[in-house]
Amino acid sequence: MDILPQTPVAKVVVDLPASMLLFDHWNIDYCFAGHLTLADAVESMGLEMREVLSELRRLDKQSATPNWGQRSIKDLVAQLMEVHHVFNVDSLAGLRPAVTGVLLTFGPHYDFLPYLSEATEGLFANMERHMEMENEVIFPRFLALEENPVDSTDGFLEIMLEMEGDHAEIGDSFRFIREITANYQLPEESGNIFRALYSGLMELEKDMKVHIHLENNVLLPKVRQLLSR
Ligand SMILES: [Fe+2]
Ligand SMILES: [Fe+2]
Repeated sequence: MDILPQTPVAKVVVDLPASMLLFDHWNIDYCFAGHLTLADAVESMGLEMREVLSELRRLDKQSATPNWGQRSIKDLVAQLMEVHHVFNVDSLAGLRPAVTGVLLTFGPHYDFLPYLSEATEGLFANMERHMEMENEVIFPRFLALEENPVDSTDGFLEIMLEMEGDHAEIGDSFRFIREITANYQLPEESGNIFRALYSGLMELEKDMKVHIHLENNVLLPKVRQLLSR
């Protein structure tokens, strides 16, 4: 692929998925700020454009990771449901008791814990509701559209706006949790349960960025393309 300073960050990640790791390393948000050009993103992080371009181009030459942009909606939906949605369900099953455990053990010592508990509970409930809607309503409609693009397209724009709105809210919740926890810095008096909670939340956040990137930057543009035919 041609990687240029004016290429949007999300486009680089769509065409070269392995670059996610580099963007994470550079602290460049390909998920929620993927519309920025490489030049703008690099400048905002005080990085050297020349070095960033040469690392990305080297990776492009070596990379053999799947390019989701070239796959069908059916393959993409299978990846989202079987990998990311399943991962989320498993994570939440472990994180809920961890939040309760931390709150019970350390609640009296740290003022921020009730806020963390409230924020995580809100986030988890939101994620569950959102995934259920995708599994039960949204994805089946996208699959039907791919099968038969001339079928009714009623309500698609609303569905997609709602999906993007939910994603933005989920992103805001993770940012808020980072604020409350000072970027998941363990307090002096903590223990294994605290460590498990923070590392579980970080894993969930990391997976969520890939998950939402695939939905916002790969899946929805494919649906829009079908609708515009
Ligand atoms: Fe999803
Ligand atoms: Fe989603």
